[in-house]
Amino acid sequence: MSVLRDPRLVAIGERLREVRAVVPFLSSKGGVGKTLVSVATALALGRRGLRVGLLDLDVTNPTVHVVLGIRPGSLVPREEYGVVPPEVSGVRVMSTVFYTLGRPAPLRGEGVSSAIRELLSITRWGPLDVLVVDTPPGMSDELLELLTYIRRFSSFLVTTPSRLSLDSTARLAELVARRVAGVVLNMAWEVPEEAVRLADRLSAPLYVLPYDSSVEVALGSPERLAETRFARAVDRYVAEHVVRLLQNRR
Ligand SMILES: Nc1ncnc2c1ncn2[C@@H]1O[C@H](COP(=O)(O)OP(=O)(O)O)[C@@H](O)[C@H]1O
Ligand SMILES: [Mg+2]
Repeated sequence: MSVLRDPRLVAIGERLREVRAVVPFLSSKGGVGKTLVSVATALALGRRGLRVGLLDLDVTNPTVHVVLGIRPGSLVPREEYGVVPPEVSGVRVMSTVFYTLGRPAPLRGEGVSSAIRELLSITRWGPLDVLVVDTPPGMSDELLELLTYIRRFSSFLVTTPSRLSLDSTARLAELVARRVAGVVLNMAWEVPEEAVRLADRLSAPLYVLPYDSSVEVALGSPERLAETRFARAVDRYVAEHVVRLLQNRR
């Protein structure tokens, strides 16, 4: 370990100084809907007039841009004493896809950590009410970086009703412990007792989002996504929760 402090670590605190709340979406497994729920939440908060940032922390497999309909290469963050995230549908977006242009980014270990520190230390979010963070699944390097550099956050755990997802979500919950704002049961075909108990144990509300087949055709169009039953439920439960969280922080 180096005795020199990475200057980027100091910069990260400075870059996030004007961000009122950091709201990461976490899950133990992939494919449970983290990306979809985090993008839908960011868009809903933007529509409610809040200043919203959206960070794709999945540096090796970013997908936020797919939901938003951003073609890799079509947008470039403006460089100005750091980089200014482009605004898409009322949300300031930052993703490694702006730099990899959709090419593979096979990073591991130190490479992932370095990419995240770079992203966090160069991005000039400016004043934000909320920074929504989409993350890769599990206790990844990305999540560990987030836990190291951003101590204060209110996360949502995303799971499906499957026991395969619920069991491991309970372990993830232990890692973030008191920083869970809510549990999101996505693509819910039922509400298992285990999900209710998990939320109870965390003293967090359980939000149930329906499986909605119209989501797939709405990918790439924030306007169409907003009209889906899924996005309306995200707005009513998750976005509403974030709004209350901000009101309580005043
Ligand atoms: N509530 C839902 N209804 C229908 N499809 C959904 C829903 N939530 C997620 N999906 C679909 O499931 C797949 C995985 O979602 P994604 O957000 O990429 O998960 P994750 O980010 O956790 O890996 C995607 O094809 C997405 O469109
Ligand atoms: Mg994802």
